[in-house]
Amino acid sequence: MSFHIMGTGSCLPERQVTNDELSAFLDTDDEWISTRTGIRSRPVCTTETLDDLALGAARRALESAGIAPADLDYIVCTTCTAERATPAQACVVQQRLGATCPAFDINGACAGFVFGLDVVDGLISAGRARHVLLLSAEKMSRLADWTDRSTAVLFGDGAAAAVLGAGGDSPLYLRCTTQGDSDVIHAWAPCGNSPFDQVKPGHDEGTFMKMRGREVFKFAVTHIASQMQRLSRETGIGLDDIDHFVFHQANKRIIDAGVERLGLDPERVTYTIDHTANVSSACIPLTLDRLAAAGRLRAGDLVAMFGFGSGLVTGSCLVRWQPRLPGDGASDGDEMKN
Ligand code: ACO
Repeated sequence: MSFHIMGTGSCLPERQVTNDELSAFLDTDDEWISTRTGIRSRPVCTTETLDDLALGAARRALESAGIAPADLDYIVCTTCTAERATPAQACVVQQRLGATCPAFDINGACAGFVFGLDVVDGLISAGRARHVLLLSAEKMSRLADWTDRSTAVLFGDGAAAAVLGAGGDSPLYLRCTTQGDSDVIHAWAPCGNSPFDQVKPGHDEGTFMKMRGREVFKFAVTHIASQMQRLSRETGIGLDDIDHFVFHQANKRIIDAGVERLGLDPERVTYTIDHTANVSSACIPLTLDRLAAAGRLRAGDLVAMFGFGSGLVTGSCLVRWQPRLPGDGASDGDEMKN
């Protein structure tokens, strides 16, 4: 058991696109979108790049943790929509922060933040890091097909981050799963122009996201319930004793169905989807940041997270909220620096 979350931050594009705006160019309307998904508007990049959002979230998380870029031992970014195929989104943030630590990306789709917690837990447990910036940055507007009403209405852009420090007793539970199914939600990478490639995977379909929504819906509801029950069983902590449930924000009806199956107190479940939509891996840290900013996280609170997405993947985690521990603050030596 290794880390605690020292601070959080987030950054969204300024432009909120309403459902009515979408209905101006798609065969949809506010009534369908809001009742079927809970989404009323979504943040969409106009003049901002994903680099800008990622940097904004990173700076705010560092400020809230009281940590300088020089104190970071790793920067890990979760994304499935990085601006570049290479270098990693995390490298760009490292450069713009003026940090010197290693930086890399991981793609755990919408469960990316929990997969990131798993990776960072390993780094901290192994004594290879004391302070890690875990950042989730997504520009879903680059993956969405804006001519397809069944997917375009669901997504938003944004970034959110957490600074994880060594010490503390989190994670109390952490479990990531992958149920091999690479078709149900997918987006092909560009084919390139190799004169030798005779297959060109995805060439006929293009690079926009394709999704079989009803299958995802069922997968999500089933797994919210089974994974949260498993978390409770394996930790011996009753679901009634968990103070906050932070679920991936893909569809309000998915969360509502999970809440109902588990018999959770709705007051303990945070919804951000109405004005953020699905920001993929950034949903969970964004919701954490909203809770923290609203002063709703008290030291000692138990926070359960659940993410799901393309893969099909799930990530479940239980942490204790302990933003300040003795020994927090600037690092006292260089031995951890790479
Ligand atoms: N406006 C109006 N009508 C629409 C729209 C729209 N935006 N989208 C679909 N419809 C229509 C369909 O064409 C269909 O019409 P038909 O009955 O004439 O064929 C009807 O509405 C019902 O469609 P369904 O797909 O059955 O609608 P459903 O209630 O299942 O809602 C939705 C669709 C919102 C996609 C839902 O299935 C869902 O949320 N699924 C999960 C999505 C998800 O979690 N994605 C996360 C993965 S993203 C990632 O991992 C990066």
